[in-house]
Amino acid sequence: MANDAVLKIEGKEFPLPTMVGSEGEKAIDVRNLRAQTGYITYDDGFGNTGSCTSGITFIDGDAGILRYRGYPIEQLAEHSSFVETAYLIIHGELPNAKQRRHFGDLLRLHSPVHAAMDHLFEGFPLGSHPMAILSALLNSLGCYYPHLATNRVQEDLANFEEASAIAISKVRTIAAMSYRKSRGLPYIYPKRTLPYCENFLHMMFSQPYEDYVCTPEVAQALNLFLLLHADHEQNCSTSTVRMVASSGANLFASVAAGVCALWGPLHGGANMAVIEMLESIHAEGDDGSKFIESARSGKAGHRLMGFGHRVYRNYDPRAKIIKASFDKALASLGIKDDPLLAIARRLEDAALSDQYFLSRKLYPNVDFYSGLIMRALGIPQNMFTVMFAIGRMPGWIAHWKEVASNPKNKIYRPRQVFTGNAKRDYVLMEKRA
Ligand code: CMC
Repeated sequence: MANDAVLKIEGKEFPLPTMVGSEGEKAIDVRNLRAQTGYITYDDGFGNTGSCTSGITFIDGDAGILRYRGYPIEQLAEHSSFVETAYLIIHGELPNAKQRRHFGDLLRLHSPVHAAMDHLFEGFPLGSHPMAILSALLNSLGCYYPHLATNRVQEDLANFEEASAIAISKVRTIAAMSYRKSRGLPYIYPKRTLPYCENFLHMMFSQPYEDYVCTPEVAQALNLFLLLHADHEQNCSTSTVRMVASSGANLFASVAAGVCALWGPLHGGANMAVIEMLESIHAEGDDGSKFIESARSGKAGHRLMGFGHRVYRNYDPRAKIIKASFDKALASLGIKDDPLLAIARRLEDAALSDQYFLSRKLYPNVDFYSGLIMRALGIPQNMFTVMFAIGRMPGWIAHWKEVASNPKNKIYRPRQVFTGNAKRDYVLMEKRA
């Protein structure tokens, strides 16, 4: 660090250290700003705030670059699988053959949930949203595995391998069970012989009298979807996981909080919102032009869902990969004429030549096409965000570990600029208006 930034305020100068990351991104270190000057920084939505240093994922939003542990997303999408990428994100390196086998064995071992958990599912009313069930059940894992959720960081870190395998493996089982519960269907238990994605689809779609048959194309499409969602640095849900972890909370509690943050339509809920938007455009007989016109207001409820991103000011590289694999996936699934797909393509073309969207650098994000892929795979709409949560689990786990193993960890505790009432005296009931 060098003291090469100077803040001039109230006639005085204060030197501020600067930092440069391994990919050249620059930051001003303001950790001592308040103590030195009495000022805090104000950055609503944290768009200019580095909340931590991290060695997991690199994004250059202007150049449309995404790398997990240094590896470009395009290369991982072409050569890797979700499980291998999960290992990479969590452990920092690609696994060798022995490590990969061991990791797969751990995931298989932990795929069933504790039999008593069935009763938890029973407690939820029919039609409960699977995201609510997912968050509650992930948190409850700490009750079934108290030795992995002590909230004593060193002990939880010592058992990290087991806890992380449980989280990655069981998130998929809980997700499938929450779907079966919401539909009033009997649970289908995991099969040890099946790989990760095939096992998930088996638990979702097999019947007690007939096994679901997964084609390699379907497994590949699901692998790609999960891999593309595996981490995305300091997004809303990951920052939430880090915030909860910063208090010393265990892995299960931290990732359960991540699920809640992911649920909203501005984050993981966008893939579902895209399909709802396309369906309503279709139902109104609009070719997309009326919708684009109203989306120019930028107001909630009118926004072009699946467009725009806080960090990408260029095409989201994940959207490029999904779009490129899209036609192949749809052909292999035998889907030819999806009217929603036609509307999506028209919306994209219209937005990419519209001054409103161009001037604000609003391009399709990963969710614009991922909802359509999920739909083609037969995943019900209220499960879309759950699918995102399964994919994001490795990232949340890696960030939990980064926080927990940082010997200089500080609890996340932002400040505020208070704009409420100044001090006033209590008014007795009989004197109130
Ligand atoms: N449609 C129409 N206008 C938009 C859109 C949109 N999708 N997104 C942003 N704008 C406008 C916004 O009204 C504002 O205009 P003005 O400058 O005239 O006030 C300008 O663009 C900047 O918007 P912002 O809300 O300040 O941008 P942000 O960085 O805070 O928000 C976003 C990013 C992703 C929340 C936002 O673009 C959005 O709401 N997109 C739709 C929801 C969506 O697709 N979310 C998924 C994000 S990717 C998956 C993930 O990582 O979670």
